Amino acid sequence: MTSTTPRLRSVVRGLGSALPARKVTNDELARKVDTSDEWIVQRTGIRQRYFAGEGETTSTLGAAAARAALADAGLEAADIDLIVLATSTPDYTFPSTATQIQAALGITHGAAFDVQAVCCGFVYAVAVADKFLISGSHRRALVIGAETFSRILDFEDRTTCVLFGDGAGALVLEAQEGTGANADRGVLTTQLRSDGRHRAKLFVDGGPSTTQTTGHLRMEGKEVFRHAVGMVSDVVRGAFEATGLTADDLAWFVPHQANRRIIDASAEKMGIAAEKVVVTVDRHGNTSAASIPLALSVACADGRIQQGDLVMIEAVGGGFTWGSALIRW
Ligand code: ACO
Repeated sequence: MTSTTPRLRSVVRGLGSALPARKVTNDELARKVDTSDEWIVQRTGIRQRYFAGEGETTSTLGAAAARAALADAGLEAADIDLIVLATSTPDYTFPSTATQIQAALGITHGAAFDVQAVCCGFVYAVAVADKFLISGSHRRALVIGAETFSRILDFEDRTTCVLFGDGAGALVLEAQEGTGANADRGVLTTQLRSDGRHRAKLFVDGGPSTTQTTGHLRMEGKEVFRHAVGMVSDVVRGAFEATGLTADDLAWFVPHQANRRIIDASAEKMGIAAEKVVVTVDRHGNTSAASIPLALSVACADGRIQQGDLVMIEAVGGGFTWGSALIRW
């Protein structure tokens, strides 16, 4: 369905990212747990990741990414009236990490809050911010994905600790008048899904209301893998159906960076050409809600993503949660 009724669109104004100072190679991990560079690369495509060090937290990384996005947009912090942060590794149980980023940026107006959808968090955050902006209630949003998964990993468990890393990415979205057509710049559609029956396949075994501890990440990797491609296909197809666009219209496919094999299988199933797929899992590992804005930052910085390009983002995460967004850059 292609609408041509004038409407507000959430248009990308800027993009930024931040990584911790410390890079951790597969070989370094192999000195601590029974694994190898060869196993990790072959099963996941991951070659290195970054781990937060002393003084680096989800809010410091998120604020650094936000500052970079504001600079890219040519805006001041005061121009922002909404901050939506996707994270599953908040600095504290409360207040929300979004408010700590807001304070670090010196913003004292508007609203700031966290969204929790694990690896699908950034797609959820884009969808939430989009709905605020197109309603006219807010003008400019910082949409941030920031994580320090290294702090919830069990370094005795080689099946999970080799997969994840830390980092942050941020997008500035601005409400602008569009024509309602697919040629408009901005978010064209968002598709969100969840099914909480799958909790046990990917979860953290602690929390304030249960164990009063932070807990560690637990995952049935094979089970997640088994469901992942079907969930990706569901929301990619959903975005195409909502807009009447097809895989051929895409300039770039920027999936959540969990695992090279899931990315390749999903693109192939959806008929998306390999050269349109942005892959950064080799250099960042799985940074959960931060992986998509980190990948977008890489593909914008190296000149691949250009204004006017049609970009599909999608992710699958714990819950399960899964979602996609089609954005005319
Ligand atoms: N190093 C060496 N050997 C290992 C490691 C490791 N780090 N981890 C597991 N193994 C061993 C296992 O013990 C097993 O040994 P065994 O045959 O003697 O029992 C062998 O390797 C094979 O293990 P599998 O679990 O069958 O390996 P598989 O090919 O399924 O790969 C993996 C595991 C990479 C986790 C895969 O299942 C996967 O990618 N799943 C998707 C999960 C995912 O990406 N989650 C990210 C979070 S969710 C999201 O973001 C979508």
